[in-house]
Amino acid sequence: MILVFGGNGQLGQDLMRAAASRAIALRTLSRADADIADSVAVAAALSHWKPNLVVNAAAYTKVDLAESHVEDARRDNEVGPAVLASACAIAGVPMVHISTDYVFDGTKEGAYLESDPVCPINVYGRTKTAGEDAVRRMLKRHVIVRTAWVYSEFGHNFLKTILRLAATRDELRIVADQHGSPTSARELAEVILNIAPVLLRDKDIWGTYHYTAAGVTTWHGFASRVVAIQAPITGRSPRVVPIRTAEYPTAAKRPANSSLDCRLFAQVFGFSPRHWTEGVDATTRTLVTSSQPVKSDVA
Ligand SMILES: NC(=O)c1ccc[n+]([C@@H]2O[C@H](COP(=O)([O-])OP(=O)(O)OC[C@H]3O[C@@H](n4cnc5c(N)ncnc54)[C@H](OP(=O)(O)O)[C@@H]3O)[C@@H](O)[C@H]2O)c1
Repeated sequence: MILVFGGNGQLGQDLMRAAASRAIALRTLSRADADIADSVAVAAALSHWKPNLVVNAAAYTKVDLAESHVEDARRDNEVGPAVLASACAIAGVPMVHISTDYVFDGTKEGAYLESDPVCPINVYGRTKTAGEDAVRRMLKRHVIVRTAWVYSEFGHNFLKTILRLAATRDELRIVADQHGSPTSARELAEVILNIAPVLLRDKDIWGTYHYTAAGVTTWHGFASRVVAIQAPITGRSPRVVPIRTAEYPTAAKRPANSSLDCRLFAQVFGFSPRHWTEGVDATTRTLVTSSQPVKSDVA
């Protein structure tokens, strides 16, 4: 069975749903069930569930808040992965660990390769980088999957924020000089389940991979797509105005280029991502349709 830590997050919940629909044995643990930075809780969970694969979907993902809550970010993103990796090594269980485009500084022209040097520019990125290093150091049988710009029907994310703003505002001002690939947690969850059997065959495929949706856009492009898809359903068409990063100051600096080259993943595991618009369109429609009042046949 597959044991997922960080089960209440976007990816954790999508893993649970994907496994249920495919009758795959998978158990998710929330922070309350097992805090990944707590070595006793992690060891107890591994000994109780006896998984043959662990997925670490737990992380401190509040990028701006991390700047002022460095110890919290370090605990969840660096100490936690180290504790998990060490417990997996002792238990003889391989682990899929999820990481981020924010390990890079965003100055490269073109998509980042797995072999490009990391250079994080904010606390979140630095703690995630340290978490990757700990996993590599402590557990040979690991796969680190770096992804980016994750959204889902569950939890908090940019897509849901845009839907909320589109319902009430006539104009949205959105950053248009940061580039990346909006990635559906649902698709990422399916892909993790797809590669699980390959990992369990224990071929020599351990290491670091990039996996995001295909195609690159900006936050402005992402928001424009969400607004365009929801408009015919809600009747709301706010203007989406492109702005520069400098016009939207945030606590954390963000990379201008978050594009990840995913060819290695496709080559090794045989799964190529769909274009980012497919997942964004589907998730937008699902969220908007489920929140629209049901029309009654009775006048
Ligand atoms: N979201 C993105 O845009 C994005 C982009 C690139 C990469 N990623 C990576 O993708 C992975 C999944 O992200 P996500 O978007 O699903 O994150 P998420 O929705 O923020 O969920 C993270 C979950 O991890 C839990 N958690 C945090 N620290 C924990 C700990 N010490 N022990 C146990 N659980 C803990 C959180 O619980 P609490 O709610 O109690 O804190 C939360 O339920 C993460 O590795 C993240 O770094 C995300």
